[in-house]
Amino acid sequence: MRIYKAADYAAMSKLASDVVAAAVIKDPCCALGLATGSTPLGLYASLVARYEAGELDFSRTVFVNLDEYIGVAADDPNSYCSFMQRHFFSAVNARSVNINIPNGMADDTAAECRRYDELLEAHPVDVQVLGIGHDGHIGFNEPGDAFVPGTHAVELDARTISANARFFGAEENVPRRALTMGIGSIMRARTILLLAYGADKAEILARAIRGPVTPHVPASVLQLHADVRVIGDATALAELI
Ligand code: PGA
Repeated sequence: MRIYKAADYAAMSKLASDVVAAAVIKDPCCALGLATGSTPLGLYASLVARYEAGELDFSRTVFVNLDEYIGVAADDPNSYCSFMQRHFFSAVNARSVNINIPNGMADDTAAECRRYDELLEAHPVDVQVLGIGHDGHIGFNEPGDAFVPGTHAVELDARTISANARFFGAEENVPRRALTMGIGSIMRARTILLLAYGADKAEILARAIRGPVTPHVPASVLQLHADVRVIGDATALAELI
């Protein structure tokens, strides 16, 4: 695990963007595993700027997103599909045929999970972008008694619901369930970028990186991966370096 301490959010986003840009330049057909949340917004803005400057071509890149709320339609402004369109896909030359996000409206959740796992088998992820939840989640892999390998439906943790209430106006409006890529799929990515910003992430980041590997802190599994780059700002890394 390599830990990069960035001076601030802009520097963190630039470092992350360097890693993703290098992967796309090296192999324009690469598969990028992408995440939603506030943390990667600067990364997406930086990639968009590089695209607009003519440095990057995403026309053959495959995108696989980590997760989606169950019961929120793709065109709902609060869906992760909308989030990704707004902040990244619509601003670059991503082709819709190459954009993959779990379908939270699928009638048959088990079939949708199988479909997503097959897709991940067909498109091994080169660089997986991750944020970290206050409860240690990655994607929507919430704390539990086991690491779940494949795509699955989850009940969101109370801390996740409360953190995401800011997008829905009130906690009661936050969906209770989601589909998420599993821990096994995340761990199969060639390179993982774990981004963390802000003092409120310092404690959980330290537990994930220095504490025991346990499904009760899902991000701790990343200690077992051969190429994880943790990129955080000074406040998120305060308890580590
Ligand atoms: P955030 O979310 O980037 O909005 O802090 C991180 C996460 O829940 O994975």
